[in-house]
Amino acid sequence: MTVSLDQLIGAPANEADWQLASYEKLPLHVVRGEGSRVQTADGRWYWDFYGGHAVALIGHSHPTWRRIVAEQAERLVFYSNVVYCPVRTAACRALVEFAPKNLSRVFLSNSGAEANETALKLARHHTGRPDIVSFEGAFHGRTLGALAVTASEKYRRYALPEYGHTRWAKWGEVPTLDENVAAIILEPVQSLAGMRTATREFLHGLRAECDRVGALLILDEVQTAWGRLGANFAADFWDVRADLVTSAKSAAGGFPVGVTLVDDTIARGVKSGDQGTTFGAGPLASAALLATQHVIREEGLVARAREIEARVRAFFPGEVRGHGGLLGLVFPDAVKPRVAALRERGILAGGSDDPNVMRLMPPLNLPFEAIDELASALRSLG
Ligand SMILES: Cc1ncc(COP(=O)(O)O)c(C=O)c1O
Repeated sequence: MTVSLDQLIGAPANEADWQLASYEKLPLHVVRGEGSRVQTADGRWYWDFYGGHAVALIGHSHPTWRRIVAEQAERLVFYSNVVYCPVRTAACRALVEFAPKNLSRVFLSNSGAEANETALKLARHHTGRPDIVSFEGAFHGRTLGALAVTASEKYRRYALPEYGHTRWAKWGEVPTLDENVAAIILEPVQSLAGMRTATREFLHGLRAECDRVGALLILDEVQTAWGRLGANFAADFWDVRADLVTSAKSAAGGFPVGVTLVDDTIARGVKSGDQGTTFGAGPLASAALLATQHVIREEGLVARAREIEARVRAFFPGEVRGHGGLLGLVFPDAVKPRVAALRERGILAGGSDDPNVMRLMPPLNLPFEAIDELASALRSLG
């Protein structure tokens, strides 16, 4: 007898009975996604302005993505980097072609944290220096290396040994570096900290200071890449040269992938054995990357991000942080009750570590009627 997915899922049960209690959850049982909407087990549909945590840039279960990934699954699910694989070749090429020109090679892993760890390793290896400069408010992931450059005690307190090689800088101010510094790492938009957005002057100041002492600039574009800001990458948006750019989240349309894009000079110094991971750039992940890249280009999603921003700015009376489809609405008071009230009206939005900032990071092919619905729901909430 052929078993079905529903048979394998079985009767409804309490996730908390089985999963480690490390997540704060919303009271939603999500069973289906279609474009910019998700459906819960009780049959209700929601506009997903939270984007499944900034992942669903091309929308949920996009038909092209589903078809391409299924086709690859039928051919070959996995083989490691010990062999050549045409689908991997094509995926790496597509990513490098989408990226800023100086980034000539890519290393693929499985998450944003790993992508950042790879960048930090390469920076130390390339410069032969120990220190990394990171910023207050930074979030770079939960593994020990990524945590070492993540600022908030809330995330660090759990297990971080004193690391000793991180120097902390103030957001918006260019620190003075010395020749022990391998790299500066930053998110061009500090999403979790409340969509704190870098300025052009700040980014170009950091570039100049890195150049002065021979340090590298790492942009953590886990949330800002793939057209999210209305340019291919934040590096393009602000026209700043980064030596290493990392990404994850929406890179493969929901398939877990970490991306580290590497400047040509650094890439030339990397040899066999310097970095590795079993699952990185597997055939299924590569097919998911390729399908996502295709949809971004076919549907003109980079330009569409700019339209989303314009429409949100047109209706929201207060401060709007961020760019494109990565926006923070600043309220005079805590947003948590508003986010809950929006949910009641069939709209998912996000909070942040700044209690007064509501985060919007929807699919970039979101229909504009969803923005109209968000606008009228927010108006009705006052
Ligand atoms: C800017 C940034 N960097 C790194 C990470 C870590 O990514 P992952 O959870 O895939 O390890 C995140 C995740 O939210 C992020 O937002």
